Amino acid sequence: MTSLPAGVERREFDGRESLATRGEPVSGEPTDGDWRRWDPRRSKLGAMLERGMETGLAGDETVLYLGAAAGTTVSHVADFAGPTYAVEFAARPARDLLAVCGPRPNLFPLLKDARKPETYAHVVEPVDVVIQDVATRGQARVALANRRFLREDGRLLLAVKARSEDVARDPDEVFDEVLEALEEGFEVLETRSLEPYHDDHLGVVARPR
Ligand SMILES: C[S@@+](CC[C@H](N)C(=O)[O-])C[C@H]1O[C@@H](n2cnc3c(N)ncnc32)[C@H](O)[C@@H]1O
Repeated sequence: MTSLPAGVERREFDGRESLATRGEPVSGEPTDGDWRRWDPRRSKLGAMLERGMETGLAGDETVLYLGAAAGTTVSHVADFAGPTYAVEFAARPARDLLAVCGPRPNLFPLLKDARKPETYAHVVEPVDVVIQDVATRGQARVALANRRFLREDGRLLLAVKARSEDVARDPDEVFDEVLEALEEGFEVLETRSLEPYHDDHLGVVARPR
């Protein structure tokens, strides 16, 4: 089994083993003391870890998280990582994201468009990891645009949602196209389907070229 980053453990909740991090609960998830359940069905990164992908995460990394939404996953990331920049462009989920940031002094919300990294380049430092979960067309372009923040030995952890590129096309064709586009700036190290946790999603681990 692949190793989990420091600060992420498998623990029992209601008799079932699950990933967990230590931090303030966010949406009524089951807890065990300081530990809170990390549900892979609600988190692409959680699903990548459950599927045994080699994310390269050791814990304590500096992270740029693209597509933070209301903060479900990025809250877990901030529980085990260092400074974590959370980009989300929709105002409504960003409101909930602010509440998630409250008790997490290492989590910085940015109400920005991930397709326009120049709008937050003055705030974000070089990072060890870019985690991307933006349900939008042009997911490879978003990753390529944000490669500038990634350290040379850093990692891109990307969840590709086929339906966001084209609802009508065969997901495998979409994945091939996204992977090919990524090659312009990344070397893809591993890919894996995120089923049964997320239909028609591909988990990708890549490093900058
Ligand atoms: C699937 S949800 C993310 C869920 C979140 N990552 C989690 O696991 O808690 C995708 C999010 O990406 C955001 N998004 C889509 N395009 C974006 C863009 N260009 N810039 C920033 N956020 C974007 C959407 O508003 C939405 O909140």
